[in-house]
Parts: sequence; C-alpha cells; structure tokens
Amino acid sequence: MHIRSEAVMDHEAIRAIHIAAFADHPFSKQTEHRIVDGLREADALTVSLVAEQNGQVVGHVAFSPAFVNGESCAMYALGPIGVLPPFQRQGIGSRLVEAGLAALRGLDASACVLVGDPAYYSRFGFRSDPALTMEGVPQEVLLCLTLAAAPPAGSVTHHEAFSIGLH
Ligand SMILES: CC(C)(COP(=O)(O)OP(=O)(O)OC[C@H]1O[C@@H](n2cnc3c(N)ncnc32)[C@H](O)[C@@H]1OP(=O)(O)O)[C@@H](O)C(=O)NCCC(=O)NCCS
Repeated sequence: MHIRSEAVMDHEAIRAIHIAAFADHPFSKQTEHRIVDGLREADALTVSLVAEQNGQVVGHVAFSPAFVNGESCAMYALGPIGVLPPFQRQGIGSRLVEAGLAALRGLDASACVLVGDPAYYSRFGFRSDPALTMEGVPQEVLLCLTLAAAPPAGSVTHHEAFSIGLH
C-alpha cells in the first residue's frame, strides 16, 4: 500500500470512495465527495492524499485551511477521510492521517482540527480543547492536535466548501 498526493486521474475514484465510505454513516449528509470537489475548485485542498493498493485508489484524506473567529492561524482541518468499505480496518485510514499530519508539519502548520470520534482520533493525539468551539458541533467531537502552536481560543470554522449541499 502506497500513499501519495492526488493526481487529476484520481478525482473520480476519490468521489467514489467518499460516496461508498459515507453511504451508511449516521452523521453524514452524503455531501463529502462534493465538499472535496468544492475545496479543489476553491484552491483550498491544501493536502489531498490517496492510498493506492495494487494500482487501485482505495482511500483518501483532505486537509484544508480552518479559521478561529474568522481569522487564519495556520490551522488546517482534516476531512473528509474515507476508505472503501472492503479495505477498512486494515490500517489504511491511519496511514493517511499520519502522512497528512507529516505534510502539514512540512507546511509549518500550527494545528489540525477535525470533527470526529475521539475513540478513533485520540490515537493520533487529537483531543477535545475547551478553548475551541464550533457552531452546532458537540464539544466532545471537535478535536484538535497542536503541531507547533496551540490555536487561539474561539470559534472554529471550516472552509465555506463544507457548507455545500447544506443550504
Ligand atoms: C474512519 C476510516 C477512515 C478509518 O479508516 P480505516 O482504514 O478503517 O482505519 P484503520 O484501519 O487505520 O484503523 C482501524 C481502527 O480504527 C477503529 N475505527 C475505525 N473507524 C472507527 C470509528 N468510526 N470509531 C471508532 N473507531 C474506529 C477500528 O476499530 C480500528 O481499531 P483498532 O486498530 O483498535 O482495531 C474508515 O473506517 C471509513 O472510511 N469510515 C467511513 C467514513 C468515516 O467515518 N469517516 C470519518 C468521519 S469522521
């Protein structure tokens, strides 16, 4: 299994991964593939990695700029992340997260945030941070990993591409 940056030829496979991975997800509105497209169109897909196995793209993770109180602070959001269902629980998601965090460190990112299950993301060092909030999101699933400097206290927002399909 091999992790690499996305290429133009991967766009359709990336869409298919998120459609399949989130099909039965209880908190998904099944817009993840459109969010990735929107981030790419807005030139906000800062890090976009695919996992390739035997020539097939089976997993994808996106990282995009995130904001505190509307201000940029070199913080990035992880997501969406998806692995094709038959390939889940084989370590591919973990490899994508770790490679993405390494790429963010290379970009001098201060921190990485995500909305997700602490049972999964705590293994990478993500923790709930009482200084951070996100509108409409329970505190316990807004998770932050400090890479270089803790973000300022306040309200976190994703790139506007995350609201695709919600209005
Ligand atoms: C979440 C996801 C990307 C993880 O990828 P993966 O390749 O299956 O994960 P890994 O094999 O690296 O890790 C598997 C481990 O994570 C755990 N795990 C996977 N998804 C989990 C979840 N939603 N909650 C808690 N634990 C989870 C597994 O139990 C396993 O734990 P173990 O190592 O202790 O056995 C993948 O399962 C997926 O695409 N899920 C559907 C989409 C999704 O939920 N995306 C994330 C939204 S926040």
